[in-house]
Amino acid sequence: MRTLIKHALAATEPKDAITIKGWVRTRRDAKGFSFLEINDGSCFASIQVVADGNTDGYAGIAQFTTGASAVVEGSLAASPAAGQKWEIKARSLRLVGPADATYPLQKKGHTMEFLRTIAHLRPRSNLFGAVFRTRSRLAHAVHQFFQDRDFIYVHTPIITASDCEGAGEMFRVTTLKGNLDEKPEADFFAKRAYLTVSGQLEAETFACALSNVYTFGPTFRAENSNTARHAAEFWMIEPEMAFCDLQGNMDLGEEFIQAMARYTLEHCAEDLAFFAKFVDKGVLERLKFVVERPFQRVPYTEAVEILKKSGKTFEFPVDYGVNLQSEHERFLTEEHFKSPVTVFNFPREIKPFYMRLNDDGKTVTAMDVLVPGIGEVIGGAQREERMDALQENLKFHKLKPEDYWWYLDLRRYGTVEHAGFGLGFERLLMFLTGVSNIRDVIPFARTPGNAEF
Ligand code: 4AD
Ligand code: MG
Repeated sequence: MRTLIKHALAATEPKDAITIKGWVRTRRDAKGFSFLEINDGSCFASIQVVADGNTDGYAGIAQFTTGASAVVEGSLAASPAAGQKWEIKARSLRLVGPADATYPLQKKGHTMEFLRTIAHLRPRSNLFGAVFRTRSRLAHAVHQFFQDRDFIYVHTPIITASDCEGAGEMFRVTTLKGNLDEKPEADFFAKRAYLTVSGQLEAETFACALSNVYTFGPTFRAENSNTARHAAEFWMIEPEMAFCDLQGNMDLGEEFIQAMARYTLEHCAEDLAFFAKFVDKGVLERLKFVVERPFQRVPYTEAVEILKKSGKTFEFPVDYGVNLQSEHERFLTEEHFKSPVTVFNFPREIKPFYMRLNDDGKTVTAMDVLVPGIGEVIGGAQREERMDALQENLKFHKLKPEDYWWYLDLRRYGTVEHAGFGLGFERLLMFLTGVSNIRDVIPFARTPGNAEF
């Protein structure tokens, strides 16, 4: 029976017989014996295997090269070497699949750019093993967070006919050939259909029945921005709460980020230690800071004043009514507040139709949570629950009310104040690991000009 290396290394006593399976990271030969480092991805560490002339299969040791897969059977014994508690004294070695000298992960110190070109092999590197184990654990933590608070998980559709964010950045889904707009009613769904940019509108329908719900799934944006924090396909976590206002929404968003930071510190310690050493020296301190300190909150109008008075020259000049750019967001969180900050009450012109109009008639109940190193990780709002105000807002944004008939029905039947937000899972991972490019926290990045693998 196979033992995962993670369990082998966690043993409390030696074992007479153990079998491990994995890939050779390195091999060192001495006179009459060899050391192999075997890794199976179950944890960060590899296990050292010692083989010699008494080991069955030792005659073929030259074939156990970096990248080859192997099965090792032997005894688990205390290791005399520094930094490792256990090693395996091999009774038999079996080569499963060889890897010749063309194996691209021969030596350490490849650039991230190079590793992206071998996205099918990069999970075998230290860094990407750590990133994707952390990603998996955090996905679990996301569900645990919401399930513990009685939120109900809703699978919102991936194919949709509505543009939630109204930004027109949607991928078309069609089976038509030729002119796609000539007869949309002849298309597969009998209308124009797209990949969703957000599950929010559908999540709202469920919140207005099941009270507290969340979605966690892939979303798609056809925005042609080649930045380190935009991907065309990314995963979003979207809670939606009935009988909840902007305050409650900000509370949940902040509590959620703090809980994810705490979970990472407690459950991803080995991988986190690697990030702290080789990726981002400040990551541990940052996570502890986030867990311990309350977030700052600032209305948009005040944030703009802070930026104007900062004395900084920004590439994009800032004034009331403009969208905050990444450089503005990062100034606020990194330099001014030196802490995560929640900006709220944005001008209605720059935010989508579904946000609730404030009594000033100018701003809507939007909230963006900004964190150091990234900028925006959360975008959310209290939703417009008043029928007339929502219809007015649809008109304001030049949208057709008939396209939103079912969304309007929620305001027609038992309407209720409600709120929610969307958090980009990859941006959260960047924040928690210190990995600075979104392409390196998603298994296979989809960005403009790139859908390999
Ligand atoms: O601010 P956004 O556009 O908000 C919404 O979509 C709302 N409908 C969510 C809601 O209220 N339920 O996107 C939410 C978050 C952003 O803050 C960001 O973290 C992430 O999604 N995001 C992206 N992540 C990676 N690549 C992109 N192209 C992203 N666009 C948004
Ligand atoms: Mg946003």
